[in-house]
Order: sequence, then C-alpha cells, then structure tokens
Amino acid sequence: MELKFTEEQLMTRNMVREFAQTEIAPKVESMENGDFPRDILAKMGELGLMGITTPEQYGGANMDFTSYIIAINELSKVSATIGVILSVHTSVVTNLILYYGNEEQKQKYVPKLATGEYLGAFCLTEPSAGSDAGSLKSKAVKDGDNYIINGSKVFITNGGEAEVYIVFASTDLTQGSRGISAFIVEKGTEGLIIGKDEQKMGLHGSRTVQLTFDNLIVPAENLLDQEGEGFKIAMANLDVGRIGIAAQALGIAEAALEESIAYAQQRTQFGKPIAANQGVGFKLADMTTAVEAAKLLVYRAADLRAKGLTCGKEASMAKLFATKTAVEVSIEAIQVFGGYGYTMDYPVERFFRDAKVTEIYEGTSEIQRLVISKHLIK
Ligand code: CAA
Repeated sequence: MELKFTEEQLMTRNMVREFAQTEIAPKVESMENGDFPRDILAKMGELGLMGITTPEQYGGANMDFTSYIIAINELSKVSATIGVILSVHTSVVTNLILYYGNEEQKQKYVPKLATGEYLGAFCLTEPSAGSDAGSLKSKAVKDGDNYIINGSKVFITNGGEAEVYIVFASTDLTQGSRGISAFIVEKGTEGLIIGKDEQKMGLHGSRTVQLTFDNLIVPAENLLDQEGEGFKIAMANLDVGRIGIAAQALGIAEAALEESIAYAQQRTQFGKPIAANQGVGFKLADMTTAVEAAKLLVYRAADLRAKGLTCGKEASMAKLFATKTAVEVSIEAIQVFGGYGYTMDYPVERFFRDAKVTEIYEGTSEIQRLVISKHLIK
C-alpha cells in the first residue's frame, strides 16, 4: 500500500503548516501560561478548519476525512493544545450531530459549529465512570416537553469555553449502557454548572473542567436519536475520534523528532556533533522508525474512514501505537537535548508533558488493547 496524498490533501497540508507557523507558533507561550486560544480558533473558523469535513450545505469545507487528519497532525506539530480542541470539537461533537441529529438539530447547530461560532464539548466521563463509561450515573427524567438531568461529569475538554455540550445521561438506570441517551445542551442553560478547571501536566491552553447538572432542563427536542441509543452513539464516534487523537500524538512525535535531529547536528561535544556518536545516532534511528510506523497506522485508519469502511480496530491500533510513540520519542528527545531538554527554554519537555495524556483520554491504552482484542475474537 502506498501512502500518497492527493493534490487537494497536499494543498491542505501546506495551508495548515503555514497557518500553524505564522498564527499558532507565536502564541504557544501564552497558551503555556493558560490562555485559551479563542483568537486562533476564530481564524481557523475563517479558514474552514472548524468544519473541515462538514458538508457545504451545513456551512463546512466539505473535505475528506484524511484532510481532517492531516490538519490535526500538522496543527499538533506546533501545538497539541490546538490539536485536541479541534479533534473533540469535530470528531465527537459536530460529526455526532451530523450523523445522529435530525434535520432540525443539524440546521440549528452544525453551521455554527462548522464556522467556529460555536465550540463543542463531549460529556461522557464521570467521577466513577471513566474506562467503564457504560456505568455512568447521570440521570435524565422526562418531564412534559423537557428532560431534567442531574449528575456530574469530569475531565470535559473545551468545557466552560464551549457553546454546545453533548451530554450522556441515563434515561433508564436499570438497563445499564442500553439505558444511556445523548442530549444537546447549550451553554447558559439553567442548571449547567461549570466547575473546577483542572490544572494539568500539559495541554495548558486547553480547558478540562468538571460539570454539575443541577436540575438541568433540556428540551425533549434536544434528544439525539432515540432514548437508549446514547452509548452506541458515543462508542461509534469514539471509534473515529481516536484517529484524531492518534494524529495529534503523531504530530507531537514528529515535532520531537525534528527538534532532536536538528539539535544533535548542531550540538558539539568531544569535537564533533553529538549525532555522529552512535549512542545518539541510533536513538534518532529508532525514533524515526517508530514515527514512520505510527504514520502508516494513522493514515491507514484515516483512509479506511475516508472510504466509509469500518475502522474501529485500525483506529484503536493507530491510537495505541501513535500515543506510545509520542511518549517514548518525546522522552528520548529530552535525552538528546541533555540538561537543556529538561529546561523550559526548549520545547521538548512540553512535547513530553503534552504527549502523556494521549495515552489516557479517548480511551486509555489498556482500553485500546481491549477493543483490538475484542475485534480479534468476535
Ligand atoms: N460502535 C457501536 N456500538 C458499540 C461499539 C462501537 N464501537 N462498542 C460497543 N458497542 C455497543 C455494543 O454492541 C453493545 O450493544 P448491545 O447492548 O446492544 O449488545 C453495547 O455497546 C455495550 O457494549 P460492550 O458490552 O462491549 O461495552 P462495555 O461496557 O464492555 O464497554 C468499552 C466497552 C470499549 C470498554 C467502552 O466502555 C469504552 O470505550 N471505554 C472507554 C471510554 C472512553 O473512551 N472515554 C473517552 C471519554 S471522551 C474523551 O476523552 C475526549 C477528550 O477529552 C479528548
């Protein structure tokens, strides 16, 4: 199989690369200090990146899935914060409404999500329902034309900043995961309480908040699909979403590798560049090999998705391997940089801090192994 991008995909790659260098790179430091990149997201909206795969009829750029993965990959080389914001917004919010929303819901929310006027958040995880997402306890009770939702969520990416929240809550706790339903909730709805903004090891420009639903009143028309379909909707969208996180991890790994190759040629010890020592040269060789393997897995999964083929196993394999690669390659990058790598004057320590969470969110590496093994034995 040849990994060959089309002319259109190459144009997208060049456009995103230039945008990342000119518009994002100068803002990395302010994001590291905790600033949420609203201005960058607005510019991404103007460029069509916030609705990259959304059909034109809903205000999107109507590009193929591989172009979307290329965009996350390129953005994440410069800022993994921007990568995760876009991935969650697109894979598990905009696309989820596009695939499972009725026409009215699509007309109401998708064009605004596609232009970036609205940002999306995906609210599945709860304090006692992380990997075991099907055991969530938030409860939605039908009350006339509304549902009343009570419960709490944790680790909600884009929470507080987002205008649209996909909320998963049980309409029948006796049915386990078959009782879970999905709702569209708008920012500002009474009873939607934005809680603690987590202080994280990395991804400092992204928001990760706790949410409380205190008699949150959601119009019944905001139910997505049917009652009880929520868990399958979440799982099906995570199948695809995981390719986005894999692409984010790939971007971090590529950035760490590029920095390491450049530094190892320029840094001289014992009268020659450190790259000339096998101890460093072999390290770079292993890092390159892992990055190339990750790239093949990521773009193979993306290609399957772009062709409308099933890709759950391939998405999990791409996420498992690319995230492991991002962590290992960024640790090795710190080693190549030596003492300088441990300081904040160089970007490699940030790559490691940003990489670690890719092995945790959208399903831990252990959950990816579970998903892959289930595919093998079914
Ligand atoms: N597509 C569609 N349906 C699916 C599915 C899929 N990929 N996987 C499972 N289902 C269906 C099953 O067919 C089954 O349906 P029936 O009840 O009709 O038989 C139902 O869902 C339950 O399936 P399982 O018994 O296999 O489910 P489980 O409870 O054992 O859980 C799991 C499976 C893979 C462990 C799942 O809980 C999981 O993915 N956990 C990880 C959660 C996760 O990824 N969270 C991410 C949070 S979002 C985030 O991180 C975003 C961010 O901030 C970056």
